[in-house]
Amino acid sequence: MTVGIPIRRLWPEPSAQPLDDAALTALYGRADGPRLRVNFVASLDGAVTVDGYSAGLSGEPDKRVFGLLRMLCDALVVAAGTLRHEGYRAVRLNERRRAWRREHGLAEYPTLVVVSDSLALDPAQAAFADAPVRPIVLTRTDADPPPGLTDVADLLRCGAERVDLAAGLTELHRRGLTQLLCEGGPHLFGALTAADLVDELCLTVSPLLAGPGPGRITAGDAAAPRHLPLRHVLAADDGVLMLRHARP
Ligand SMILES: NC(=O)c1ccc[n+]([C@@H]2O[C@H](COP(=O)([O-])OP(=O)(O)OC[C@H]3O[C@@H](n4cnc5c(N)ncnc54)[C@H](OP(=O)(O)O)[C@@H]3O)[C@@H](O)[C@H]2O)c1
Repeated sequence: MTVGIPIRRLWPEPSAQPLDDAALTALYGRADGPRLRVNFVASLDGAVTVDGYSAGLSGEPDKRVFGLLRMLCDALVVAAGTLRHEGYRAVRLNERRRAWRREHGLAEYPTLVVVSDSLALDPAQAAFADAPVRPIVLTRTDADPPPGLTDVADLLRCGAERVDLAAGLTELHRRGLTQLLCEGGPHLFGALTAADLVDELCLTVSPLLAGPGPGRITAGDAAAPRHLPLRHVLAADDGVLMLRHARP
């Protein structure tokens, strides 16, 4: 079933017909082994936000793939900054996507994993308070949780001075959460890149010149460049491009 604005594959093999959800699901898929997939939307001139939020960059085709990527993952990893700023709600999937997960032997919902050094998190935020699956907060050994946080989330402590991302991902894998989808934000993506933990980047390019001001999809300390080969190019009829780059 194809709904909304048609999405077609441009590369490697152009598809004459729009891709339905089954075809898109097959194109993105799940990996055989552990994988960290990162998903971002950016403007044509590289901005990560418009008026401070990602919403101004996203449209119906991006939201459709965004939802499918959530359906495909075991855990959704997000930095505390993005969780707070974008006001993350509980991770919910529609019945069709939950049914797909059941059919594929997955938990009905992915687990939310929040990365935070400070634990400056609000347990009343819907992402925690209404979560269908108890979220995990990946944090430092000595960080003090605010009152109520451990009532609504499990703490996973890795790293003394800063969160040890590599150790945190390894522990998530050990818990059976091997297909990880990271929705940012830029500082977390920068740290994951620096630690060479990024296996895949799904990037939606919005046909918009945002102008000077906003940051890029990556931020933080400089790191060595990493090569990430192109796997597919999709285009939606509203001019949005969807690129998938992944390690061999
Ligand atoms: N266009 C898009 O697709 C997209 C996607 C996501 C976000 N965004 C935008 O990006 C902006 C937010 O970016 P941001 O610069 O605040 O970055 P961020 O990476 O979302 O958040 C930074 C915060 O997350 C935690 N964190 C990040 N990396 C960490 C690490 N390696 N170890 C431990 N904790 C870590 C820390 O939280 P604590 O302070 O709690 O320690 C840190 O202060 C917002 O404007 C949002 O709208 C856009």
